[in-house]
Amino acid sequence: MVKTIAIDGPSASGKSSVSKGVAQELGYLYSDSGSLYRGVTWQALRKGVDVQDAAAVVECMYEAEWDFFVQEGATIFSIDGDVPVQELREKDVRESVAFVAAIPEVRKFVVESLRSLAAFGSLVMEGRDIGTVVFPDSPYKFYLDADPKERAMRRYRELIAAGEDEKADEVMKSLQQRDKIDSTRKTDPLVVASGAQVIDSTSMTLEEVVRTVVNAVKEK
Ligand code: CDP
Repeated sequence: MVKTIAIDGPSASGKSSVSKGVAQELGYLYSDSGSLYRGVTWQALRKGVDVQDAAAVVECMYEAEWDFFVQEGATIFSIDGDVPVQELREKDVRESVAFVAAIPEVRKFVVESLRSLAAFGSLVMEGRDIGTVVFPDSPYKFYLDADPKERAMRRYRELIAAGEDEKADEVMKSLQQRDKIDSTRKTDPLVVASGAQVIDSTSMTLEEVVRTVVNAVKEK
């Protein structure tokens, strides 16, 4: 039977590393729902669409050809034949994605696309609304959290390691702004799903968090 493991939480709470680790341990596919919101944002930006213009973003999203497939244990997608990866993490996308992800029609398209990925097999999917909206019936729901300062430091170190020229206090501000938009938006805000196990990773290692999730899944 296909299983879907939902891992939700705010930015830089460790969702990506944990989800990849859990997927590897269990032999499931890793699926990054945020990359789809980033993909819609990237497509709008490269087409010169104003990301504040919801109708134009939605039109641009539907005009594009989206294909979903599996590569190296993960679900990925192409947009008009291109597979953006590094581009999705760039600053212009990072700063606009929370606005784009607040557009109800964008969420509808992404949620439907995410559900269709279960056809590829069992998934570990990370995001903001996986346990609340995408797979609400899944018995495997986790909400990862960490202290905001710790999250900002983690994101800062990631950006510096990726060769970006960023200041720690600006990373903190941008993260706080995204947290605020994500948890206060009208459609599918970031909340703890009912039945989700909350894990505060502030002082846990990655291995400890992965182990906690894998054990909880095996116990069900
Ligand atoms: O890596 P990080 O947590 O910073 O971001 P992400 O998971 O790639 O998500 C980027 C943005 O997409 C978030 O700030 C949300 O605005 C949006 N998102 C969402 O609304 N729902 C999801 N399931 C996943 C992401």
